[in-house]
Amino acid sequence: MTLTKFEIGAKFQTPTVVAEYMKSLIPEGVKTVLEPTPGEGNILAVLGDYEVTAPDNFFTLDPSRYDCIIMNPPFSTKYAFGVPDHVEESGLRLGYHILLECMKMSDNVIALMPLFTISDSDVRLRYLKQYGLKSITILPRKTFKYVRIQTAVFELIKGWSEPTIFEAFELMNLQQQ
Ligand SMILES: C[S@@+](CC[C@H](N)C(=O)[O-])C[C@H]1O[C@@H](n2cnc3c(N)ncnc32)[C@H](O)[C@@H]1O
Repeated sequence: MTLTKFEIGAKFQTPTVVAEYMKSLIPEGVKTVLEPTPGEGNILAVLGDYEVTAPDNFFTLDPSRYDCIIMNPPFSTKYAFGVPDHVEESGLRLGYHILLECMKMSDNVIALMPLFTISDSDVRLRYLKQYGLKSITILPRKTFKYVRIQTAVFELIKGWSEPTIFEAFELMNLQQQ
């Protein structure tokens, strides 16, 4: 059975309270925002005041600059469509590949990612730190309805050189949903 693009990754839509939290990290003065993989639009729904770009297919989006990028990408090719062969062959986890592409397009990136992005690899952690890793907010394992996976919100600001701030997202916030 072939899944539609809305069914692909349906289990991983960002809960509204988490989307609101991510929005609260958007720096002041930002006008243009990219949501690279909008899915059902939970992040889009909280971005009312911004000039938002939300492509149907991230892989055909022309490279451009945005004041800020806010994202929860598909973490692997299993949950994505339209992945070009050269990307599949690169061997990078897809979510990390999309994050790297986004880091070229903005100086402010707010990304919901699996925690293993940094816990599995000193190279990836160092790369994010070199760009500027302002904060990491650990999300509860029950963030997604049907899947238990440890995720975190990475707040990336180009040139951030102060220590990275660690936060734990309040479980109470999720229970309110
Ligand atoms: C983890 S979900 C998150 C969706 C949304 N960003 C959110 O935060 O609620 C990732 C989404 O990426 C979408 N997706 C997969 N491949 C894509 C592509 N090539 N271009 C744009 N979106 C894609 C899937 O349909 C899925 O809904």
